[in-house]
Amino acid sequence: MKKSYSVIYIAFLILISWVVNAESATFLVFGGKSGWFGNETIKIVEREGHIAICAHSRLENREEIIEELSEVRPDFIINAAGITGRPNIDWCEDHKEETICANVLGCLNLIDIAWRQGIHVTNFGTGCFYDFDEDHPMGSGKGFKEEDEPNHFSSFYSRTKVYLEKIMLNYPNVLNLRFRMPVSFDYHPRNFIVKISRYKKVINIPNSLSVLEDLLPIAVDMTLKRKKGNYNFTNPGAISHNDVLELYKLYVDPDFTYSNFSAKEQGLILKAGRSNCELDVSKLLKDYPNIPHIRDSIIKALQEMHRLKLSKSSN
Ligand SMILES: NC(=O)c1ccc[n+]([C@@H]2O[C@H](COP(=O)([O-])OP(=O)(O)OC[C@H]3O[C@@H](n4cnc5c(N)ncnc54)[C@H](OP(=O)(O)O)[C@@H]3O)[C@@H](O)[C@H]2O)c1
Repeated sequence: MKKSYSVIYIAFLILISWVVNAESATFLVFGGKSGWFGNETIKIVEREGHIAICAHSRLENREEIIEELSEVRPDFIINAAGITGRPNIDWCEDHKEETICANVLGCLNLIDIAWRQGIHVTNFGTGCFYDFDEDHPMGSGKGFKEEDEPNHFSSFYSRTKVYLEKIMLNYPNVLNLRFRMPVSFDYHPRNFIVKISRYKKVINIPNSLSVLEDLLPIAVDMTLKRKKGNYNFTNPGAISHNDVLELYKLYVDPDFTYSNFSAKEQGLILKAGRSNCELDVSKLLKDYPNIPHIRDSIIKALQEMHRLKLSKSSN
């Protein structure tokens, strides 16, 4: 009964959009129900006048996906589903089978089915499998390019993403976007700014970060344009933890204090090593030259967070 309602609802959405706007496309979004990126993507797809349908099938269930595709008949699939671990990626160290099932087998399953049906898939991937090295020293501004081999394998989560990427990119229907350390203009608990402002101690290393407000609309646009292949998907430039927190003091909370520890000391409290690197985004900037530098975008995020804080305290 519940399922027939959902079929009617999807048909209704498609019909309405066809009447209102013959140009609108249907996006099936995996990870849209409970996921951070998926949820935000659905809002953007709808804001742009398209239909976003939240996928209910599990990535590893072939029959379920095939049935859902025949019901929804999407023009595009966005895969924002995957295991990220709770409270963080350390979880994956002790849940390797579940992590492989979703992040490798499941994602490949979805891509393979979509390829057989001629449907484009935009996969939300990660660039968290690099560490600064001799050829890409910290602070040099020389970032890792899409074709550089990963060199960070000390977390199981990152390893599954490397395995996935290497196989996935053989499919001609795939666009893979490598996000890193996401930032949003709100107090989402997984916003990088919120996370590091709540840690007892932070490392101080410059990194490439992805500001969702800047990049998710671009992800939707790239999907509509059926772009393919691999893209580093962060804002240009890198910013250190201390720089972000100094800006936090300036724009949000002048009384805020923080203290640092070394990456070696951080390693003692984590199960899995964390990637620290800068990505080269020249490929992305060729098509989207106006993506703001990370420092400018962090300032905008902090200004918006300050505004939210004031409006909350005045309520
Ligand atoms: N957030 C980050 O720091 C970050 C950075 C770079 C890249 N990424 C990548 O971007 C993607 C989205 O990240 P996110 O932060 O939005 O993750 P998230 O908030 O943890 O959401 C993940 C979503 O995936 C769904 N999911 C997990 N396993 C699934 C399966 N087997 N079948 C179907 N759905 C499944 C979850 O649904 P259930 O709860 O129902 O399982 C959830 O809706 C992930 O692949 C992540 O690795 C994230």
